Amino acid sequence: MAQMTAPTAEELAAAGLELAVDGEVARITLSRPHRRNAMTGRMWTELARIGHTLPQGVRIVVVTGKGPAFSSGIDLDMFRPGDVDGVPTPLTLLSRGPEGAAALEQTIASYQEGFLWLRRADLVSVAAVRGHAIGAGFQLALSCDIRILSDTAQLCMKEPALGLVPDLTGTKPLVELVGVNRAVELCLTARTIDAAEADRLRLAERVVPDAELETAVDDLVAQLLAVPADAARATKELLLQAGRNDLETQAAAERTAQLARLAALAAHSR
Ligand code: ACO
Repeated sequence: MAQMTAPTAEELAAAGLELAVDGEVARITLSRPHRRNAMTGRMWTELARIGHTLPQGVRIVVVTGKGPAFSSGIDLDMFRPGDVDGVPTPLTLLSRGPEGAAALEQTIASYQEGFLWLRRADLVSVAAVRGHAIGAGFQLALSCDIRILSDTAQLCMKEPALGLVPDLTGTKPLVELVGVNRAVELCLTARTIDAAEADRLRLAERVVPDAELETAVDDLVAQLLAVPADAARATKELLLQAGRNDLETQAAAERTAQLARLAALAAHSR
C-alpha cells in the first residue's frame, strides 16, 4: 500500500472532523453539530486515515462529538441516490450492477477501517458520549475501549428498524458486552436506552453528570497516562486475546508477556 499521508485540518474539516494531538493524547471531535454529527463515508475514510497516520507516541485517543449529540448515525443523505461529499452513495454504487456491488463491498470495508483501528493494542480509545449515539454513532462508541457517558446519553442501534444491519464493527463488542440475548433484544427492537440502563448493561465504564463529562475524560486520561506505555500495551494485548484463548493458552501468554516485561525492566535498571 502506498504511504498514506496525514489528513490536513482542511481535509478533516471537509469531512466534519477535528483532530488535536498533544503529545501522547489525540482528541477526535465529530464536528457537524448542525446535523447532530451525522456521519458520511468521507468522515469514515478520514477516520481511517487518522488511525493510519497518528503521530508516533500517541497512546490515548479520545473520541467525542461537538454539540448536544455524540452522533445521530449515518447521514440520511447516504441512503439516497447520488453523491455525498463527492463520494457515490451505496445506492448509486448498487445501481452499477455486479461491479458496483463489488465496489460497495470494498467501500464498506474502507468505512470499517475507520472503526477497527480504535482497538489497536498500542492505544487506549475513549468515547465521551453526550446525548444521542445512534446507529453508526453507537457503533463508534462501541469501537472504543472505554465509554464515558454523560447522564444525557441515549444509545440506539437503529439499523434494523431501517431495514439494515449494523455493519460498522459494532456487533461483536455489543455481544461481548451485553451477551447475545440482550444484543438481540436491543437491536431487534431498535429501542433507545438511557445512560442509567447503559450503565446497568455494562455499556458504560463511567456515567457522570453532563457538566462533568470533560473533567471526567481529563481525569481518566491522566490515570491512563500514569501507567507506563509499554506495560499498558502488553496488558492490552493480553486482554484482547483472553476471550478467544483457553485458560492454558492464556496463562502461557501471560508468562511470555511477563518475561518480556521483566527483561525490559531489568535492562532499564542496569
Ligand atoms: N442525517 C442527516 N441529518 C440529520 C441526522 C442524520 N442522521 N440527524 C439529524 N439531522 C439533522 C436534522 O435533519 C436537523 O436538520 P435541520 O435543522 O436542517 O432540520 C438537525 O440535524 C437537527 O436534528 P433534530 O431532529 O432537529 O434534532 P433533535 O435533537 O430533536 O433530534 C435526533 C436528534 C434524535 C438524532 C434526530 O435528529 C434523529 O432521530 N435523527 C435521525 C437518526 C437516524 O435515523 N440515524 C440513522 C441511524 S442508522 C445508521 O447510523 C447506519
